[in-house]
Amino acid sequence: MPGSANLNIMVKAARKAGRSLVKDFREVENLQVSMKGAGDFVSRADIAAEAILKDELLGARPNYGWLAEEGGGIDGVDPTRRWIVDPLDGTTNFLHGLPHWAISIALEFKGQIVSGVIYDAAKDEMFVAEKGEGAWLNDTRLRVSGRSRMIESIFATGVPFGGRADLPDTLKDLGRLMPACAGVRRWGAAALDMAYVAAGRYEGFWERGLNVWDIAAGVVIVREAGGFVQPIDPEGDLLDGGEVLCSNGAIFDQFTKVIRNG
Ligand code: IPD
Ligand code: CA
Ligand code: CA
Ligand code: CA
Repeated sequence: MPGSANLNIMVKAARKAGRSLVKDFREVENLQVSMKGAGDFVSRADIAAEAILKDELLGARPNYGWLAEEGGGIDGVDPTRRWIVDPLDGTTNFLHGLPHWAISIALEFKGQIVSGVIYDAAKDEMFVAEKGEGAWLNDTRLRVSGRSRMIESIFATGVPFGGRADLPDTLKDLGRLMPACAGVRRWGAAALDMAYVAAGRYEGFWERGLNVWDIAAGVVIVREAGGFVQPIDPEGDLLDGGEVLCSNGAIFDQFTKVIRNG
């Protein structure tokens, strides 16, 4: 596993916040939950994990900027570097006792993601990558799958909840993709969906209506595992455009053709 000082800080922070989340997950029925919007929940567990991550990451690098889902952003003294954090990706799963959620931490340098950590604490799976250094799951090097036939491939997506405006587009995508492939999964944690593409567990993932903290770490992890990541609209902004499409290189053209020719 690559071992830069920043990556070590990120891994340590993820483990510490992971312990807090695992503890809260065991007593999930006691958590206070509020709704930020239709289908969008936040609990004491999200807030506690974010506080730990902020302490660890800004404590170690006080001059960097900060952006996290629950508490928002802080400008850094160093305007070129920023932590981008989702303290709990998959809150809805977490609150239903489904063990499929993760912490996502990215380090942005001059507008590019240079390091990423996605930690599935319930399964103790630590996905990490650094630009130019490869992607890893715990001590094993990651590589996207080599499948190149749509009919043998599986894909993942997130279906917008709460009647969001992009639901019809996703339903149309599903109508075109499902007859052409071996299956579509909807697990409910976008960061883990990207980590799973990097690990070759599925061939591709696409989703609309996301935020930068959902995808930032996944961008470097998928690319360092040999995959491709783009916005769904090729003219769009990858980090701030709210949509992403990624896959192994062998299936990319066929997959993007199905999703983009809507
Ligand atoms: C959500 C998850 C989910 C995706 C949603 C995200 P959160 O993140 O990644 O899979 O479909 O769009 O908001 O709110 O659980 O961190
Ligand atoms: Ca949320
Ligand atoms: Ca998220
Ligand atoms: Ca979250």
